[in-house]
Amino acid sequence: MSRYSRITGTGSFLPPKRVTNAELAAQLAAQGVETSDDWIVERTGIRARHFAERDVSTSDLGVHAARSALEAAGRKASEIDLIIVATSTPDMVFPSSATILQNKLGIAGCPAFDLQAVCSGFVYALTVADSMIKSGAASKALVVGAEVFSRILDFTDRTTCVLFGDGAGAVVLEASDTPGILSSDLHADGKHVEILCVPGTVYGGKVHGNPLLRMDGQAVFKLAVGVLEDAARAALAKAGRTEADIDWLVPHQANIRIMQGTAKKLKLPMDKLIVTVDQHGNTSAASIPLALDVAVRSGKIRKGDTLMLEGVGGGFTWGAVLLDF
Ligand code: UT7
Repeated sequence: MSRYSRITGTGSFLPPKRVTNAELAAQLAAQGVETSDDWIVERTGIRARHFAERDVSTSDLGVHAARSALEAAGRKASEIDLIIVATSTPDMVFPSSATILQNKLGIAGCPAFDLQAVCSGFVYALTVADSMIKSGAASKALVVGAEVFSRILDFTDRTTCVLFGDGAGAVVLEASDTPGILSSDLHADGKHVEILCVPGTVYGGKVHGNPLLRMDGQAVFKLAVGVLEDAARAALAKAGRTEADIDWLVPHQANIRIMQGTAKKLKLPMDKLIVTVDQHGNTSAASIPLALDVAVRSGKIRKGDTLMLEGVGGGFTWGAVLLDF
């Protein structure tokens, strides 16, 4: 009998502090940085984002999302035998946020590690967990995407600081006789490192280089729509499915125009597109599981629906996962 993996529960968590475009614009204006609600909504679709308080870390957000996914799956933390946290804003240089989250869940022993693929992190992590379940290395995995991107934003750069937010999403992925995850298609191309990066690092006890996010937004935009279409088509082909089989497109929530562009290329009507970027901004590795959980809890996504998850981000990395929910 074949062994597959299937999502059995979803969860998410947003830090309570919600900042609207108008509130952010007013804060930035006080520092001489000019932006407006109109510009942000028109160019990105973002209306608000959440920011974590200073003493709140990625694993703090992640553990709330994880507990909620465990509850939805009807599982206890002690049943989990693999933890992967996709993040680019870990609690510390090391150990991983996954081990810190494991300890906060009150469990020990199972493998736990972070996965760094920036905004594609969740589709990468889901693919790794699926492979480990299929191989028999795990049977009940917790796959988390969690970020405190507000920590790495340059609030003097209006071209980036209005785009991102903090949050976490999680799924429980379990071994199953039926899929579940149908296929996935992952890629990276390191020649595009410069267009989206945080170039700084810790060196000799000091921060060396710029520790804040830098992005060539137009270059990212142009690459994103093309590679997302290719990855989605490749995932469909691997599973022997077509665009017509997709009930919901759950893309990385970066910019409504990129999301609509991908849906159009896949000939999907806009009402099959899950959109949370308006309320969350871009939460990087957290955006897909956050959007998924919101859509599941609102009753839009139901058991048996076919979902296309897809992400794109720094590296350049991109990928898609096709699954029956
Ligand atoms: O998660 C990883 C993936 N990341 C992404 O997907 C981001 C992809 N890129 C984008 O979403 C878009 O390129 C942006 C939203 C970042 C920018 O939108 P755009 O339509 O490409 O705008 P632009 O960069 O061409 O800028 C247009 C104008 C410029 O002014 P001039 O040169 O025309 O006078 C900018 O200086 O808008 C100006 N501008 C702003 N104005 C008000 C840039 N940022 C702002 C701002 N408020 N926050």
